[in-house]
Amino acid sequence: GGEAHVEDFDFSFEGPFGAYDQNQLQRGLKIYTEVCSACHGLQYVSIRTLGDESGPGMPEDQVRAYASKIEIYDDSIEDYRPATPADKFPSVTSADAPDLSLMAKGRAGFHGPLGLGINQIVKGMGGAEYIASLLDGYEEAPECAPEDFTGYYNTVFTAGGYPEQCIDEDGNHMYPGSWIGMAPPLYGEDVEFDDGHSNDLHHEVQDVAAFLMWTAEPKMMQRKTAGLTGVIFLAVLAVLLYLTNKRIWAPIK
Ligand code: HEM
Repeated sequence: GGEAHVEDFDFSFEGPFGAYDQNQLQRGLKIYTEVCSACHGLQYVSIRTLGDESGPGMPEDQVRAYASKIEIYDDSIEDYRPATPADKFPSVTSADAPDLSLMAKGRAGFHGPLGLGINQIVKGMGGAEYIASLLDGYEEAPECAPEDFTGYYNTVFTAGGYPEQCIDEDGNHMYPGSWIGMAPPLYGEDVEFDDGHSNDLHHEVQDVAAFLMWTAEPKMMQRKTAGLTGVIFLAVLAVLLYLTNKRIWAPIK
């Protein structure tokens, strides 16, 4: 048996000075658009934000061109029309595929030890790591599983069905993960990048996971800058208070 294994990828946005990599987010968008959007929506993400400097940073004309290729249903005309940057991405397109807007924040990749979340302090929440590992976590189903067991065996997904034939006498799962309803969406070389960037599976899963981290946390850069400004401000204040304190008490000592 064993724990599902979430790999600790080195993402550019980690750490106090980390930032999203615009090129990586644009590659991730391409993977989302050409593969994931067949089933998953991004209903909370405004198309306009693809132009954000702290996000994919796409030029305005490219954002408009991107929007115009998306068909969205407009209640006011009771019909489909091409989207504009003012619209949101379409919502879920396949009934049982969850919306991906906030998925990277909804899943914690790192836990323990002892459920204390200590790994999270060191490595972060691991939402992007979870998604990348999940997409890379498909394996051939173990032999204990019946041929016709529903779903696809994934070593990282823990919330799915598990055949009782693969549970030992003590009630422990003999293999990590469980069976997921999503067929492996990426195999490597699923999309072509204009700049010739690698499209092997290990790179693709990181690019799309980084993109989904950005959709879930588009203001991460601003948050880090504000936090850092706060720390510097408090450090300066501490020095000034120390000096003030010394001066006030100097005559008494
Ligand atoms: C579930 C990502 C493509 C159908 C999920 C989950 C993620 C995800 C993160 C949630 C896993 C969890 O609950 O922990 C992606 C990405 C894709 C992609 C990044 C593109 C690279 C697709 C496609 C389909 C699909 C093309 C349909 C053909 C589903 C379904 C579920 C799911 C049905 C629910 C599975 C379950 O709960 O058993 N996907 N997906 N996905 N996805 Fe995808």
